Amino acid sequence: MGETVAKAEKVVKTTRREALRKGLFWGCWGIFIGFAGMLGISIVRYAYPRIVWEPSSTFKIGKPDDYAVGSVTVMGDRRVFLIRTEGGFYALSAICTHLGCQPIWEQDNQVFMCPCHGGKFYKDGINFAGPPPRPLPRFLMTFAPDGRMMVDKAKEVGLDFILKV
Ligand code: FES
Repeated sequence: MGETVAKAEKVVKTTRREALRKGLFWGCWGIFIGFAGMLGISIVRYAYPRIVWEPSSTFKIGKPDDYAVGSVTVMGDRRVFLIRTEGGFYALSAICTHLGCQPIWEQDNQVFMCPCHGGKFYKDGINFAGPPPRPLPRFLMTFAPDGRMMVDKAKEVGLDFILKV
């Protein structure tokens, strides 16, 4: 009887010890595999640089005859306002110089109105009310060989710039 109990205790102790050993073994392997996986992911991410593809800063628009004299064309996807005057064209940034909202062209009042904080700009881009600290930037415009106009958002020009037609 006593011998049987001693054997049973030994079996229980062995089983517990073995279970602990196996748990420790698999736990260590789990941690090792986790670190190896993270290292592998880091290496793969390092090998492939993260590139953000942005549209070109230069883009073609229509020919001069496509725009009526006095018109303001909102190029929302490019965030540019194209203005045609008697003498030619100029392109204004459609990003408010206060905190970057997109102003709205108010045809009736002939002004750009920023909906965020009430900033206002004249048709030539000069700020005259509200918090915007400076005029809307004006971008370089040129003619492409095919007669269409081009806007280069990477090159700002003076407030007197006009693409003459
Ligand atoms: S973002 Fe235009 S007025 Fe503030």
